[in-house]
Amino acid sequence: MTLLFVSAADDPEEWAGALAALRPDIPFRVWPDVGDPAAVRYALAWRPPADALPGLPNLQAIFSLGAGIDGLADVPEALPPGVPVVRMVEEGLSAGMAEYVAWQVLDWHRGGALYRAQQQAGEWRRRRSKLAGERRIGILGLGVLGQSAARMLTGLGFPVAGWSRTAKTVDQVVCHHGADGLADLVAGSDILVNLLPLTPQTEGLINADLIAALPKGAVLINAARGRHVVDVDLLAALDSGHLAGAALDVFSTEPLPPDHPFWRHPRIALTPHVAALTLARTAAPAVVAQIARIERGEAPLHVVDTGRGY
Ligand code: NAP
Ligand code: GLV
Repeated sequence: MTLLFVSAADDPEEWAGALAALRPDIPFRVWPDVGDPAAVRYALAWRPPADALPGLPNLQAIFSLGAGIDGLADVPEALPPGVPVVRMVEEGLSAGMAEYVAWQVLDWHRGGALYRAQQQAGEWRRRRSKLAGERRIGILGLGVLGQSAARMLTGLGFPVAGWSRTAKTVDQVVCHHGADGLADLVAGSDILVNLLPLTPQTEGLINADLIAALPKGAVLINAARGRHVVDVDLLAALDSGHLAGAALDVFSTEPLPPDHPFWRHPRIALTPHVAALTLARTAAPAVVAQIARIERGEAPLHVVDTGRGY
């Protein structure tokens, strides 16, 4: 009943320790040291090499090391057909994303960039700020992370609206859905936060048309995936002043190439894809709970629906 770890981006030792503390009976192996392929029941994976998983005849579930599953979906040949792929849903990711979004929202809301520039210039200039209740936040994606961010922001007093594919009811959040709901959400967002999964339907969604529909002076926070945004359209809107700024954690190409204009753009605050990182210490209990479900003969939660792409 082995668990096989397959990721060049995560620390196997941390995971081995965190899982062994909860389930010492599950042997932990790090690819390519597979041992007996027939003993492998579970894989914990991110961007697995194409030959890592297909030769495992008794594989019962592939646990994504990320909330997004593009790290697996981008390598379809690496996924044995019929084996469920399970998204990572865990407390640390939800808390980390809510913290990141609150950080960026509050920074823009309170003029962080302006005051840092004033400090550099030795300038003492006081500006009146809006109150949280006067700054409307729109969240694209009302899933696990979108709702976690929404709870944090409503707690801070911001009016929050959100957008999802299917209709939703979320406490204190004005919910929009479907193609028709997008226009209303965007038109009423002083700060637009992207927490969508990357799918053929959402790729390139944040383009010139969507940005033009935002109120003048709006701000974009992208913590989902770089390919949701059309980079040249974002740059044009920042340069024209239609957008006041952008906080970007994710990029079409990562690491962001050294000559990319985002690096030195005065209206962009940039972080290296750290908004919410899966933490072994908080995620191991979630993985163990999913294994327990499978052992009881129940289906795991948060299985990716390959038809809808997330
Ligand atoms: P999730 O629970 O699956 O939620 C996805 C949300 O997006 C759902 O509300 C879904 O609508 C909505 N959605 C999907 N396709 C849509 C469409 N075509 N139109 C409108 N709404 C659509 O995902 P999650 O756990 O919140 O994660 C969201 C994303 O965050 C991940 O996929 C990943 O890309 C990103 N992420 C980034 C970081 C980072 O460090 N930067 C960390 C973790 C995750 P329904 O509710 O109707 O299904
Ligand atoms: C990180 O980006 C994730 O999808 O968990």
